[in-house]
Amino acid sequence: MLARVITFAVDGVDARRVWVEADIRLGLPAFTVVGLADKAVREARERVRAALVNSGYEFPLKRITVNMAPAYLRKVGPAFDLPLAVALLVASAQLDGESIESTAVVGELSLTGEVRPIRGALAIAEAVRRHGLARLVLPRARAREAALVPDVQILGVESLEQVVATLEGHAEPAPLPEPEQDASDPVPDLSDVRGHNGLIPGLEVAAAGGHNLFLQGPPGTGKTMIARRLPSILPPLDPDEAIEVTRIQSIAGLRGAAGLVTARPFRAPHHTVSAAGLVGGANPPQPGEATLAHRGVLFL
Ligand SMILES: Nc1ncnc2c1ncn2[C@@H]1O[C@H](COP(=O)(O)OP(=O)(O)O)[C@@H](O)[C@H]1O
Ligand SMILES: [Mg+2]
Repeated sequence: MLARVITFAVDGVDARRVWVEADIRLGLPAFTVVGLADKAVREARERVRAALVNSGYEFPLKRITVNMAPAYLRKVGPAFDLPLAVALLVASAQLDGESIESTAVVGELSLTGEVRPIRGALAIAEAVRRHGLARLVLPRARAREAALVPDVQILGVESLEQVVATLEGHAEPAPLPEPEQDASDPVPDLSDVRGHNGLIPGLEVAAAGGHNLFLQGPPGTGKTMIARRLPSILPPLDPDEAIEVTRIQSIAGLRGAAGLVTARPFRAPHHTVSAAGLVGGANPPQPGEATLAHRGVLFL
């Protein structure tokens, strides 16, 4: 039997739709994954097998072929575990195919069937909305972040069993997790600076107009100290900016279970930072320091 599950792959600072197709047919037991999948995705086979069995489902001892489409898009990371498991459940008739209609599924699985957090939940939820899908099943720890996107029903799940129960409508979707207390240090304040009466107005002009600022002076005169205090006089993030910053930090894996980012970023990379570290790069592309400082301060 054939099953198709919609999921999303993070690509740069965006998410793209991917179909996970599972085909189960008679033959010698085998489990093949095709469609430009990286090592973590091929390893998903082992996690999915263990998670299914340990959650009390049957792992079909038949010829299983999984295709991830579109094939040209590189699929990276463990977030395909859950859609793969759901595709196998549908293809082996352990889950009703209608239950996954208009539903996107993302999440990493542990061997026990627990659903583990993923990166880029906000970007994925935005893409789900853009594609006109109704529901998103994702790890509960990221549900608060995904719920920032309107018009999409967010189903936060903690285990494979819960995924099946929620999709079949036997269980109520779990409530959003409690907002995590913001553990980050308070933003250092400009009032700590002594003197520099000429420089402070310059700093204010740069903050008000969003200009670049060049600080020159001997070591120990407070350049770093003053630059660190620039975010304290910048205006608060407006809602759209906050979404942009949250989406970038989420993709870079800098976010916990908290919802929206409220503080402007301050990034101070070391002067030996590589070109890719500064402007982004690698394959698949990762945001660099310049991107991470978006809507905030990049201090070099
Ligand atoms: N104008 C100032 N007011 C208060 N503290 C200062 C001032 N200038 C320097 N300091 C102190 O000296 C430390 C070193 O300054 P720093 O910002 O690292 O200097 P720089 O980056 O110019 O080499 C600061 O952490 C702060 O404690
Ligand atoms: Mg310094």
